Amino acid sequence: MTTDVFSAVQPWPMPDKSDCIFYHTMEFADEPVIPGGWDIRGHFPRYIGGYDIAGKTLLDVGTASGFLSFEAEKAGARVTSLEARSGADFTQVPHINSGYLNNRTTFVAETDEILRKLKNSYWYGWRKTGSRADVVYAPINRVGAWERRFDVVLAGAITEHLSDPVTAIGNLSVLAREAVIIAFDPVVDSEEMTLTAGPNWLHLAPRQDHTWYFLSRGMYRRVFENLGFDVRFEDAWAVPLFSGDTRPTQRTTVIATRR
Ligand SMILES: C[S@@+](CC[C@H](N)C(=O)[O-])C[C@H]1O[C@@H](n2cnc3c(N)ncnc32)[C@H](O)[C@@H]1O
Repeated sequence: MTTDVFSAVQPWPMPDKSDCIFYHTMEFADEPVIPGGWDIRGHFPRYIGGYDIAGKTLLDVGTASGFLSFEAEKAGARVTSLEARSGADFTQVPHINSGYLNNRTTFVAETDEILRKLKNSYWYGWRKTGSRADVVYAPINRVGAWERRFDVVLAGAITEHLSDPVTAIGNLSVLAREAVIIAFDPVVDSEEMTLTAGPNWLHLAPRQDHTWYFLSRGMYRRVFENLGFDVRFEDAWAVPLFSGDTRPTQRTTVIATRR
């Protein structure tokens, strides 16, 4: 892979709202609230661990519908949003009924169609908010080859979905001048170094096999200390509308700052 994959894409035209999948609940001035799978409205500062991003360059890793990117811009950051290029960038927990394992071509085609609608939702918000964020479509596990640097690298709700989260954290850390924020992940409350299988190992339907590992506090601490970062942990909140619940759920945001 050449580093061209990291070039910003040309902005997409305004998509039809019916051709969008909204991961995030989005609120724009001129229309009713658009419900998404997760509602982070009102929770953004704590979602990113209270980190001051004003005037900073920020990479939003796994931007989905872009809520974090657009909020970061409002908070004064100069944002680059990163999303997967294709379903070929994903890895799934292996099992006998796995579409990923048994028919990769179909898995990639179906995932690409979902990603197209997810990316549409981002561009819908990008145009509605007058965003100036750059957008890069590249796999997270290749960002170690990218020569760009950002003050802050924000990776929200993504570590658990990667088959090799430790390598990914290492690659993301190289891009960060100042801080890596691993936002809103289930962190095991233990100072032991553990990488625990996620619940989706027990629910092995073809589309429910996307959660790999939960890292413990001790694991995050060790991995980031090895990379030259100090670590602290903060409570973060978001509403899991996809589950029909309207109460905020608490997870952990890891703030790693370069020594
Ligand atoms: C669970 S969502 C989190 C969205 C957002 N960061 C947040 O915290 O609300 C994970 C996002 O990461 C993207 N993603 C997952 N694996 C990826 C990979 N290997 N490379 C690039 N993006 C990936 C998904 O497409 C999705 O948009």
